[in-house]
Amino acid sequence: MLQHQVKNHGIPEMKINNMLDTAREFFHLPDEERLKFRSTDPNSVIRLVTGFQDKTRNIFVSRQSLKFHSHPVEEYKSHWPSNPPSFRENVGEYSASVREVEVAILEAISESLGLERDYIDKILKGHYVSINYYPACQESELDVTYGVRTHTDPTIITILMQDDVPGLQVINDDKWINVNPLPNAVVVHVGDILQALSNYRYKSLLHQAIVNCEKERVSIASYCYPSDDAMIGPAKKLVGKDHPAIYKDFTYREFHESMWRVKCSTAKRLDLFRARAD
Ligand code: OGA
Ligand code: NI
Repeated sequence: MLQHQVKNHGIPEMKINNMLDTAREFFHLPDEERLKFRSTDPNSVIRLVTGFQDKTRNIFVSRQSLKFHSHPVEEYKSHWPSNPPSFRENVGEYSASVREVEVAILEAISESLGLERDYIDKILKGHYVSINYYPACQESELDVTYGVRTHTDPTIITILMQDDVPGLQVINDDKWINVNPLPNAVVVHVGDILQALSNYRYKSLLHQAIVNCEKERVSIASYCYPSDDAMIGPAKKLVGKDHPAIYKDFTYREFHESMWRVKCSTAKRLDLFRARAD
């Protein structure tokens, strides 16, 4: 299983709509209001990332995103924007609901691997949110405009809520397929950490987003990630004579540091932690 759209997840429709409205309002604010959050420090509790041109590859990446820690809500809320005025309340309510879905999914995944129900939840630190905003097509002299380029998420799982504008694509049998939004459904992506932890029984998902020329698009990604010291190499129960460990034992801190230090395609990120063949 690479990816699924989940309906009947229990996040109230009103909270979803409020979240999407707030996201749109934030990105419609004047530049100076949004740019206050611009930061290049990957460790800051909140940061705005803007679109950019990658001239070496002749592409323009149009996604703007506001990324911030969100769990527990009360710990981080004061760092979030106070404009639009609904931001903290709507994002707080949405995040708390997503957290419940996340726990249920992680329990089901742990059980599907034959691990204790709370195996994954125990190593969890929390989730952070990326509010993604894709403007309608912009003029660019570069050849290709992407929403966001091909990548895997550096997470255990990602829970993605899209508005009603298509754009997300995932790889299936070497072909890109569109994941067209279903009303009120969330998309669940397997991330790199789950690939390692499950000893490659779950495989992280290559995905990208393309832009729509007529309409802007908003999506809310909730990334679920482990605490810094958590051991995220293969669970011991999943390693045996018939199932050699594909990855070494490593901590999330090591993974996270190498992710920023080593420039490689995200598909190769985990290769740095492969176990050596005996
Ligand atoms: C992400 C992501 C895709 C989308 O935020 O990691 O892949 O459709 N987003 O916005
Ligand atoms: Ni992603």
